[in-house]
Amino acid sequence: MPEILRGEKVYLKKGLEEADYPLILRGYTDLEVINYVSFALETVKFKTVQEAKEFTLEVEGQIIFGIYTPEDAFIGYTTLSEFDGKDECEFSIFILDNNYWGKGIGLEVTRIMLAYAFDKLGMRKVVLYTSEYHERAIGLYKKVGFQEKRMIPNDRVIFKNEGWLLSGTILMEIKSKDFIK
Ligand SMILES: CC(C)(COP(=O)(O)OP(=O)(O)OC[C@H]1O[C@@H](n2cnc3c(N)ncnc32)[C@H](O)[C@@H]1OP(=O)(O)O)[C@@H](O)C(=O)NCCC(=O)NCCS
Repeated sequence: MPEILRGEKVYLKKGLEEADYPLILRGYTDLEVINYVSFALETVKFKTVQEAKEFTLEVEGQIIFGIYTPEDAFIGYTTLSEFDGKDECEFSIFILDNNYWGKGIGLEVTRIMLAYAFDKLGMRKVVLYTSEYHERAIGLYKKVGFQEKRMIPNDRVIFKNEGWLLSGTILMEIKSKDFIK
């Protein structure tokens, strides 16, 4: 049985299933969903579920959990990666069905994953990278205790106001003692 982490709004299940990839393809190719993500320029061109699958397995790190509603609908995924034998890792979250945005699910998933990283995996620090324009994500991350550490100028291309534009990437990090549960 895959590991399951339960929240109130969603549950997380370790690994992804074949049936999850069509939604991943849909999210990857929808500029309203993927516009701020560093890999949007690449995934937006995908045509097949297989392409989305290969890309996800390659880029998404060592630990991946699918995000599911209580009715078992798959709505996205979240990862912890870049461990490199240290006591820190990188977090990412993708709610790829935007009908589920703005309901506190991102916040719940982020808290579940931070608790997992700190308490279960014994991490000391978790980092993440996001676009300087991604206010929704930055607001969410600050709410759980992430702090902005560094800005990497002109680091990614995002889709905003009907066009592609250069964006800085913000590095954020959180130590276990600063986690707002
Ligand atoms: C970014 C993402 C994870 C947010 O998830 P979500 O479920 O919509 O977020 P939540 O409903 O949990 O919102 C949590 C908090 O974020 C902040 N927030 C939400 N929308 C915001 C906005 N438009 N501006 C500023 N802050 C915002 C608020 O603090 C909010 O809490 P509140 O509503 O109680 O005040 C989700 O939109 C997503 O996966 N997008 C696609 C992929 C992506 O961009 N991933 C992030 C890559 S870094």
